[in-house]
Amino acid sequence: MDKIKNILVTGGSGKIGRHLIPRLLHEGYRLRVLEFETDELPYPVENVELARGELGTPGLALELIKDMDCVIHLANTKENKERFMKANIQGTFDLLDAVYTSGKQVRQFIQAGSDARAGIYYNPRPYTMDENFPHRAYPGYYPFSKVLEETMCEQYRCQYGLPVTVLRFSWVHDEDDILAHGTLRKPDFGIPVWKELAETQEQKYFFEQDLDAAACMVHPDGTPCIRHIVALEDCITSIFCALGNPAAAGHAFTVAAPSAFSYKVLAEYISQKLDIPVLNFTNPIYHDFQHDLSKSRSILGFNPSYDIIRMVDKALEFRAAGHTRSSCKYPG
Ligand SMILES: NC(=O)c1ccc[n+]([C@@H]2O[C@H](COP(=O)([O-])OP(=O)(O)OC[C@H]3O[C@@H](n4cnc5c(N)ncnc54)[C@H](O)[C@@H]3O)[C@@H](O)[C@H]2O)c1
Repeated sequence: MDKIKNILVTGGSGKIGRHLIPRLLHEGYRLRVLEFETDELPYPVENVELARGELGTPGLALELIKDMDCVIHLANTKENKERFMKANIQGTFDLLDAVYTSGKQVRQFIQAGSDARAGIYYNPRPYTMDENFPHRAYPGYYPFSKVLEETMCEQYRCQYGLPVTVLRFSWVHDEDDILAHGTLRKPDFGIPVWKELAETQEQKYFFEQDLDAAACMVHPDGTPCIRHIVALEDCITSIFCALGNPAAAGHAFTVAAPSAFSYKVLAEYISQKLDIPVLNFTNPIYHDFQHDLSKSRSILGFNPSYDIIRMVDKALEFRAAGHTRSSCKYPG
């Protein structure tokens, strides 16, 4: 693959995009960034060519990909029944079709996928999942759209040979997300929301008195739940592993932490660091899952470095430095 120089990034102001753009600029890429609905942009705008628009607008995609060698498609709306068809489905279709109809000018299309496409903890499954596990999304418009986006990518790859790479990110953690998720106090981050699982007098007392604790999610038999997520840093690393990598074309890759974590390990570590008790929460519908990273490691050279302990340490540093969490329209 010839060296990529010009990249269209969609969703630049999002959780992933806002960190990716400065890194791409630092590496010397010329960027065009699609922005929608965002006035204050969280990256140096003077160094990028800004395009304003809404995905799915007729003619927009062809304009956006002019003179570009690569598309990194991050823009996406989450649980939004009114918008997801236009933004996620029509928007992704328009970009793929523009790349196809414009000939061989765009040499790589990197699509942000998600492990939501496999339903993660909603479905019973083999404990370890690799890329061959079929699409089996959990209920909702967001996972539904991740399946449809991937299906379109696959069709454009097999029908027209488009060099599409799908990076299936696990749940991405940045800033102090893991502490927001792993403790009772606000802000709540992600699913489950611990208060909704509170059944015992003791659990309810913690919420009534606004007491903090580290949450340990367990199965009805008391064994801790197992989950796989990814640090934002490793997510960005995976994009650089794929970018301009001829071996990445035509493949989907799992992007997750070096290993899955047990909620017992997470809760005990947070408990020790914040000096708060551990409280168990039984989740009767949760199924353990962990990803198999063999393909990403061997073909992409993806070597993630943030395990759950390092994610907590980084979140503690974030709080100790007095930072406040970035605003996010779609928390979780
Ligand atoms: N954050 C995660 O945990 C996670 C996990 C797996 C996969 N992903 C995928 O990674 C990608 C980026 O995720 P994120 O967390 O950075 O998203 P985000 O929600 O933080 O940002 C989404 C971006 O898309 C833009 N956007 C939304 N609707 C648009 C429209 N109609 N037209 C143009 N732009 C629009 C928003 O302005 C924003 O910049 C998404 O495809 C998402 O599905 C994210």
